[in-house]
Amino acid sequence: MAAISPSKTLMSFTVLFVALCIFPHINAHPPHINGGKTRHYKFNIQMKNVTRLCHTKSMVTVNGKFPGPSIFAREGDRLLIEVVNNVQHNISIHWHGIRQLRSGWADGPAYITQCPIQTGNSYVYNFTVIGQRGTLFWHAHISWLRATVYGPLIIHPKLGDNYPFTKPYKEIPLIFGEWYNGDPEEIIKQALLTGGGPNVSNAYTINGFPGPLNNCSAKNDTLKVRVVPGKTYLLRVINAALNEDLFFSIANHSLIVVEADAVYVKPFRADTVLIAPGQTTNLLLETKSRFPRANFFMAASPYITGTGKFGNSTVAGILEYGNPGRKFPVFKPTLPALNDTVFATDFASKLRSLATRQFPANVPVKIDRRFFFTIGLGTTPCDRANVTCKGPKGAKFSASVNNVSFVRPNTALLQSHYAGKSRGVYGSDFPVYPTRWFNYTGTPPNNTVVSKGTRVEVLPFGAGVELILQDTSILGAESHPLHLHGFNFFVVGRGFGNFDPENDPKNYNLVDPVERNTVAVPSGGWASIRFLADNPGVWFMHCHFEAHASWGLEMAWLVLDGNLPYQKMLPPPNDLPKC
Ligand code: C2O
Repeated sequence: MAAISPSKTLMSFTVLFVALCIFPHINAHPPHINGGKTRHYKFNIQMKNVTRLCHTKSMVTVNGKFPGPSIFAREGDRLLIEVVNNVQHNISIHWHGIRQLRSGWADGPAYITQCPIQTGNSYVYNFTVIGQRGTLFWHAHISWLRATVYGPLIIHPKLGDNYPFTKPYKEIPLIFGEWYNGDPEEIIKQALLTGGGPNVSNAYTINGFPGPLNNCSAKNDTLKVRVVPGKTYLLRVINAALNEDLFFSIANHSLIVVEADAVYVKPFRADTVLIAPGQTTNLLLETKSRFPRANFFMAASPYITGTGKFGNSTVAGILEYGNPGRKFPVFKPTLPALNDTVFATDFASKLRSLATRQFPANVPVKIDRRFFFTIGLGTTPCDRANVTCKGPKGAKFSASVNNVSFVRPNTALLQSHYAGKSRGVYGSDFPVYPTRWFNYTGTPPNNTVVSKGTRVEVLPFGAGVELILQDTSILGAESHPLHLHGFNFFVVGRGFGNFDPENDPKNYNLVDPVERNTVAVPSGGWASIRFLADNPGVWFMHCHFEAHASWGLEMAWLVLDGNLPYQKMLPPPNDLPKC
């Protein structure tokens, strides 16, 4: 690290001071007041044979591991992760939930912030973890490769900083995924060709294992976690499944929720938690005070609101207290019913920001831009000669935001924007509200055809944004997990039916709303979120159900540079992949 000269320090403080006077509501991020470490990782993207449910298949992995390796950092550290592509697929990796302040080049969604890394090429993801600590994850961000290419991203507090809860004795990562006996790339390719819903997975997994409740689960297909009595463990729970929200519970143990999406929350007890794809949560597990003469299932099963097909199975791992040779009974937890929206609503309402002096809830109160986006399914006319498509009414499944179904460009949006060459790549005219009004959650309109486009919503640096996400009942209402790159947002309101602009804002929580990067919009309802556009770049926002993303339930925000030096994007790295 270069020494900082006193005059430079003085200058940056002057700039910071002036900035704070002009934009008092904008968080200042002066460069590198962190003193963190630099940590190096190497990700070799390679094929590997893996066997589950008596099926062996060759899959895309990181370093031959399934799930992939964990990344560890401390708040303030810089990560340099070299990704080398040794497979026949293009690849890119996303650091899900990392804010990527000014470093959008390292965010990862293919054709949004970078061109994919082609076979034989490599790219170094270079970013600093600023103002975040907790559990996140990383995953492939191209096509359906994230089915096998994913792993935990764990950020510990700065040295000397404590958790705002009991110091855990040990930490246990639990990452949910989905196992397909087939090749997920083939599955989505077929689905997009025929227009029908993609085949569902054969099992859910915890840390890659489907567990004993599935057909043909071999003995070593089950995750076992050994604990000792009288301790507090920190469970770092991640939903990396492709298409389903999951309920999670441990038999005869209650859990304390302490964090969501790498932000501390007011602790509360729960027997069962609900977690949508793209969400992460930290849970405290207090073990029994003495050795129990039993073992306990840690189980997860889906929460389903839509009308499409889904994987209907339960994954379980085993929590054991020792004596592995002894035969103890195994207790099973009772999980909520598949469609238990009452549970989902109640659980969501319990998540509140800590909102302390040390961990404040900086909810934007001055709103400069307001948006209303409908989200949901739709159709595209069948384009196959002499064949009927397999989607609704012989058409193809599609999905959209404000009836615009996202079309992936051939080059990366961020590169086009930075080079000032947007013509022919994207339009800056994404609709601010739906262009045609209908009763969003009532009887759906007869015409369900979506429009197609690559359009972005442009925001000036520092704008306070309020966005209403309104589910539609077109082809069935459904709870969609909407994920925003580059920002955390506050969920200031949620409800069922159509959003009422007169009355619903009166019930907003501006004091301690949960802060996160992925919100499960209520099925047949709406969620209101707020964020501060203090991060220049192009930021993807999409449904974290992979099927819906593939159908176009995606859009991008373009946040312009601010006037001050540290309000501008960093220049692109030299090894940025080309399309
Ligand atoms: Cu984890 Cu763009 O998503």
